[in-house]
Amino acid sequence: MSSATLVDAPPDEAGLLPILMAPDPVLKARARTVRDSDAATVRKLLPRLYATMYAAPGIGLAAPQVGVGLRVAVVDVQPDGKRAPMTLINPEVIGASAELATREEGCLSLPGQFGDVTRPAQVRVRYTDETGAERTLEAEGLLAACVQHEIDHLDGVLFVDHLSPLKRNMILRRLAKERRQKAR
Ligand code: NI
Repeated sequence: MSSATLVDAPPDEAGLLPILMAPDPVLKARARTVRDSDAATVRKLLPRLYATMYAAPGIGLAAPQVGVGLRVAVVDVQPDGKRAPMTLINPEVIGASAELATREEGCLSLPGQFGDVTRPAQVRVRYTDETGAERTLEAEGLLAACVQHEIDHLDGVLFVDHLSPLKRNMILRRLAKERRQKAR
């Protein structure tokens, strides 16, 4: 099914969108740039994307994870335990530190699975916010990792793709096994 056709997929009773699980091929596809003509779609998508992320709970969710092939992601790492929602439309990493940082990552599309991922410790990201304003973010720490993880989703890249093939396959097999057991 074409990812872009799922924008109007019916949410559940709570208005939440179903999250696609690896190895769904939609998660491997590159999402397309949001255009002005997508404004109504994005406006409708954002509250559902936030609700789905907070309910999971998660600190980031990209549109492809709910079957929407647009370059949109929401992030909230809740610094100091308070909500700090950030809408990233057409985000682009325009600068990255030479310094790297390794942290354990998980993903709502690979529930219960974790792996150590190494990325630039600081990044500068240009994006459009929900009001249509162009913004630049300087991120470090958890926020830097989270934003890079979500931008990866827009390029069809999962955190396991940063791991060795051995570790990646181990995680994907474990996920498949756990999902089979749950389905029984
Ligand atoms: Ni993820």
